[in-house]
Amino acid sequence: MNLLAEGAIAFEAEGAFFNPKMKLNRDIGVAMAGALGLTDYLDAFSASGIRGLRVAKEACVDEVTLNDVSPQACQLICKNVARNDLACTVTCCNANVLLHERHFQAVDLDPFGSPSPYLSAASRSALSYLFITATDTAPLCGAHLMSGIRKYMARPLCTDYHREMGARILLGLVARELARLDKGLLPMLTHVTDHYVRTYLRVVKGANVANKCLENLGYVEHCMICGSFKTIAEPHPTGICGHCQGRTTVAGPLWLGRIQEPEVIGLAVSRLEGIPRANKLLSTCAGEVEVPFYYDHHSICERLNITPGKIEDIVERLHKSGRKASRTHFNGLGIKTDASMREVEDAMISA
Ligand SMILES: C[S@@+](CC[C@H](N)C(=O)[O-])C[C@H]1O[C@@H](n2cnc3c(N)ncnc32)[C@H](O)[C@@H]1O
Ligand SMILES: [Zn+2]
Repeated sequence: MNLLAEGAIAFEAEGAFFNPKMKLNRDIGVAMAGALGLTDYLDAFSASGIRGLRVAKEACVDEVTLNDVSPQACQLICKNVARNDLACTVTCCNANVLLHERHFQAVDLDPFGSPSPYLSAASRSALSYLFITATDTAPLCGAHLMSGIRKYMARPLCTDYHREMGARILLGLVARELARLDKGLLPMLTHVTDHYVRTYLRVVKGANVANKCLENLGYVEHCMICGSFKTIAEPHPTGICGHCQGRTTVAGPLWLGRIQEPEVIGLAVSRLEGIPRANKLLSTCAGEVEVPFYYDHHSICERLNITPGKIEDIVERLHKSGRKASRTHFNGLGIKTDASMREVEDAMISA
């Protein structure tokens, strides 16, 4: 027997899926569960149970259900529950069946690949919170166009900001799934790390909230020549880039609303003091300017044939000219700003 340890949990993982590289994802999940003071949480794809076990123990959530479709995984989960002296409920169901049968305050989806097949049932089941991991970044971010269209009913586009494109394609589908049930969403934290998208959403019941949410859906018109972009409410682009007159392409529908809630993130950050990478990641998310997408510093410098200066200097220059600007966790070379491509270029040339 190979006994592993993560957070406050000792567990076995032989016979079930376990990816130690997802520790950061789980660390943040536990911190968010603690920050939100959850009382009832479903880990719908438990594998060894490590995620839900940590939520039960470290975030002190009373009612934790650990589910997996694999009987072998469930046996292992039961052993891991007993080993840690916890009182979690273990179920061995297809997640879609369980989610259609029962409501949970918080539903966490961490399937293999795309969460798309489970979003309809999870939207029904989640009373207050929906946490989602998507590891199918190729379809989400535009590398596999048709697969993205099939899974997310949206057209992705591979751009400099493809990581954020993936997050907003996923959120766009969740908003539409929830709206069918007269529910809306308020994103609290969204991050794209390594090769996955992870988002933490508040779910709010009500036709009016759902209507308001749908107003956050829209499209992006992107120039493949210069990388300029602008968001548009309807998929009716001008077709011509306002910056370089090049041909533009449209992606969407996408979630164009807020994706971070700094107050909640701040509470989670205070629970991650011993975990520098998670702490830094969340602090960057909390400080991001809330505008969709970002400019890539190096791409623009390459196009202008100039030597890249310091990103901090460019951000400061944009601030001085009255623009919002920040770095972004999505990309170390990214700049989020409400400035136009022309203004960003000017800031780079004079940096
Ligand atoms: C990516 S792993 C989960 C990892 C786990 N959450 C963690 O953090 O270690 C996905 C798990 O989902 C299970 N699974 C696959 N299809 C399922 C379904 N339809 N319903 C429930 N569980 C399913 C698999 O048996 C596998 O254990
Ligand atoms: Zn252009």
